[in-house]
Amino acid sequence: MLHETPLILVAEDEEATRSLMGSMLENLGYQPLLTADGVEALEALEVERPDLVLSDVLMPRMNGIELCRTIKSNSETRLIPVVLVTGLGSTEDRVRGIEAGADDFLAKPFQLAELTARLRSLLRLKQFTDELVHAEEVIFSLALAVEAKDPYTRGHCQRLARFSVEAGKRMGLGEEELQALRRGGILHDIGKIGIPEAILLKAGPLTTEEIGVMRHHPLKGEQICKPLRTLAGTLPIIRHHHERMDGDGYPDKLKGEEIPLGARIIAAVDYFDALITDRPYRKALPQEEALRLLHGAVDTGHLDRDIVQIVTSIVHEVGEEWVAPLDN
Ligand SMILES: [Fe+2]
Repeated sequence: MLHETPLILVAEDEEATRSLMGSMLENLGYQPLLTADGVEALEALEVERPDLVLSDVLMPRMNGIELCRTIKSNSETRLIPVVLVTGLGSTEDRVRGIEAGADDFLAKPFQLAELTARLRSLLRLKQFTDELVHAEEVIFSLALAVEAKDPYTRGHCQRLARFSVEAGKRMGLGEEELQALRRGGILHDIGKIGIPEAILLKAGPLTTEEIGVMRHHPLKGEQICKPLRTLAGTLPIIRHHHERMDGDGYPDKLKGEEIPLGARIIAAVDYFDALITDRPYRKALPQEEALRLLHGAVDTGHLDRDIVQIVTSIVHEVGEEWVAPLDN
């Protein structure tokens, strides 16, 4: 649970900036905990559990990237959101920050309004993640809340769960694997909770940086679901649902059968479902055309051929019922 007055750990080596951040945070109603570098910040983390860490990137002794990586690799602290304060336009810092597991970035010099907005949304996320550790139901409602943020994907998660399980049954999978598929359908994109809506709902093409943020969602999702033991079998689906058969996917560039079967199933069903529903950039396609594109995605090395065959047979059987509203 969050502190009553959220505790924000600041790591900043420049004294003037540090005290400015301190007073800004106080004015916003937070409780700042000021440290001068990564080493001091880690020492503070031994005694305090802040609700968020706000760290400069360039600092002596231990920089912000290393600090972030250390926080994210410790099971005790990895759910604490980390915001890195980078120089303007330093794409390289951002890429390294994303790799280190940073939750968000602020470019220096930052505006108060921007700081306020980022902190508020990340603290909300932190509050959610704290609760998730105790309640699996919350995780599912969170996934549906992510889906609800995007009017174009309504019902997508339920369809994904339903038809992935159907595909799994036809492949002879056992109850445990089917359960993982059911959960994976609902939870696969839960990591999008951390993605700003400006990127999530952007109608035009994304910038390289935005693509980087977007591509972090499988890892973020895995991180959110990891504390729940019941979801252990679902984690590979969440992490690998954007891998491609030819190894060109993310986050691990797995190839062919290296990609967990459940993730390959979800990927194929997800692909088809996206085609037959409206998107910000195009209308829903007719089923036959969607099927043609689905098979095209096998030829381009994206999807698993056998699984696409099974999905095709399901589509032929259920027809328009695929997108019918579910009554459960
Ligand atoms: Fe996804």
